[in-house]
Amino acid sequence: MRCFLAILALSLCLGCSRQPKKDAPSLRIAVVTDLKGYLEPCGCTSNPLGGIDRLAAQVRALRDGPVPVVFLIAGDAFFDTAELEPARVDQANRNAKTLVEILDRLEVTAVLPGRRDRAQPARALEALRRGADFPWLAMDNDAEVLRTEAGALRLAVVGVRPGADRDVVMAVTGRAQADTDLTIVMVDGSRRDANRIGAIDGVDFVLQGGLDEDDPIPPRQTGAGWVLHASRQGQGLTVVDVHRKKKDQPFVDRSEWSRSERTAQLDRQIGDLSAKITAWEKSGDVDAADLQAQRARLSDLEKARQALDAPAMRANGNTLFASWIPLEKKAPRDRQVEKVMRQHDKAVNQANRIAFADLEPPPLGPDDVAYVGSPACSGCHDKAFAWWRNHAHGVAYLTLQQRSKEYNLDCVGCHVTGYEQPGGSTVTHNLNGALVNVGCESCHGPGAAHSADPEVAIARHTPESTCVVCHNEQHSDLFDYDAYLKALIVPGHGLPAIER
Ligand code: HEC
Ligand code: HEC
Ligand code: HEC
Ligand code: HEC
Repeated sequence: MRCFLAILALSLCLGCSRQPKKDAPSLRIAVVTDLKGYLEPCGCTSNPLGGIDRLAAQVRALRDGPVPVVFLIAGDAFFDTAELEPARVDQANRNAKTLVEILDRLEVTAVLPGRRDRAQPARALEALRRGADFPWLAMDNDAEVLRTEAGALRLAVVGVRPGADRDVVMAVTGRAQADTDLTIVMVDGSRRDANRIGAIDGVDFVLQGGLDEDDPIPPRQTGAGWVLHASRQGQGLTVVDVHRKKKDQPFVDRSEWSRSERTAQLDRQIGDLSAKITAWEKSGDVDAADLQAQRARLSDLEKARQALDAPAMRANGNTLFASWIPLEKKAPRDRQVEKVMRQHDKAVNQANRIAFADLEPPPLGPDDVAYVGSPACSGCHDKAFAWWRNHAHGVAYLTLQQRSKEYNLDCVGCHVTGYEQPGGSTVTHNLNGALVNVGCESCHGPGAAHSADPEVAIARHTPESTCVVCHNEQHSDLFDYDAYLKALIVPGHGLPAIER
């Protein structure tokens, strides 16, 4: 009996710790926009953001808290290309399927698929949708309402199809507000599209997909509604704590995020304008009334700036606090989701290895020179070869193998030599391994003729245009030609070898 009481007390205590505090938000909205089928970042850049395993860990942590959570995804969720090349269809569909499986585990409240998602062949899309436990909004109509409850609040989540008829959207959104405490609309479109919907009477929040912006944007007011956004490719998620105290009252944004962004903006404007005024005063040829007007503008800006520094007043009305959580490398990961991702990588590797087993590179044209692979250069350039083997370029394929991505169509092209070039490599063909890694011929060009007869010239200089085929902005954010080139010119390769 005593034992029973102890257990009861314990469970009661667990229960009470989960009770919302007095000032706790009524609701937490977790927002992801323009996910575009990204399971994780490629890992090429200096600070890769994203990863559905990291996203999962965040969403789980939010759900473990006392505040009810709705998790919404707006804009292209499953695909990043509208018209896939035939060779890429299978990998992209596998990817989307894995994503759906993971989102199912995360109990997504609703998804509003974007334009690229909707452009996929109907059968593939239908198969994907059937496999999902969460609703896809506005697939068969211009606007659709999902009603749900979160804590004490009754929510209407409205999905709007891209390019939907405005009158239909107005009517559906209007009807949605009956018996509802909070109205959230999801769109996939331009800033202007989102503004129009935010201005509809009674809309509290607009989740905007379709912007395709790397940087997240703090809440933006339009009419009485607030537009929310969360960057793209799952690089981060926007979390909005909603304190709803009164019905039919607009929300006030009290986020530190918005405040600091606004502060920076005002500081810029004040700096620019005061510099201009000083210059006008000096020049003396500006009309006195105009100058006076500009000084008044400056004073208004300064007042607005001071107001931001004043301590935030305690609000009795409806407020929102938004923050953006970047999913950095060190962010916690959900181990189970990670496991699904690793299985996915292996399955894609295996499928592509079989599907493309017979894929040969384009044949050599009359003026083309064949590739031979770096080992063929080693006999005459042993010092250069010894350096290269231990340089990043010499292990680029290993980087993919360690991740089970060496047959992945999104990766292989820049981590091998002569990809899809005449007489070069493909996802499966690499001269029995001679063309794996970023070999000598990636920079000096195909070398069969020179290898057979060193009298035949081979390019020594490697212009920037050679590098940026791979070192582009998306995959090499820190690339600087001169600095990167320096790293390649070492004793034995470009500099006299050090004799021992
Ligand atoms: C049979 C021996 C031999 C082989 C094999 C060979 N080279 Fe050479 N290579 C030479 C000789 C000899 C020179 C001229 C002397 C020098 O500068 O070292 C040369 C010069 C070069 C130069 C400098 C060209 C210049 O204008 O200064 C580059 C770059 C080069 N080789 C790249 C390669 C690459 C890449 C491979 C493999 C695809 C390769 N070589 C294979 C013998 C060879
Ligand atoms: C075929 C694609 C390709 C080309 C062409 C290429 N690179 Fe690279 N480069 C890579 C890859 C992939 C890596 C990373 C490999 C790894 O670590 O797995 C890399 C890494 C490097 C690194 C090491 C960076 C670090 O952080 O350690 C330097 C330096 C570099 N490249 C310079 C150059 C320069 C300069 C050129 C042009 C002359 C060039 N690369 C051309 C694909 C390429
Ligand atoms: C457009 C070319 C390109 C594609 C496609 C590409 N990479 Fe890379 N990758 C690079 C370059 C260039 C670097 C070196 C960047 C630097 O150091 O500036 C790199 C570096 C890396 C690194 C860091 C290696 C290290 O040890 O520092 C990893 C990991 C990586 N890539 C994995 C991948 C994966 C996985 C994919 C597919 C999802 C992929 N890459 C697709 C060009 C590419
Ligand atoms: C990422 C690009 C890159 C790769 C990969 C690369 N090189 Fe070079 N190589 C260069 C650059 C840059 C220079 C210096 C060019 C200059 O002097 O303007 C150079 C110079 C050379 C030279 C002439 C200078 C000398 O030391 O004699 C040779 C020979 C050469 N490379 C051979 C090779 C061989 C062999 C490999 C493969 C084992 C290789 N390179 C891989 C970029 C590359």
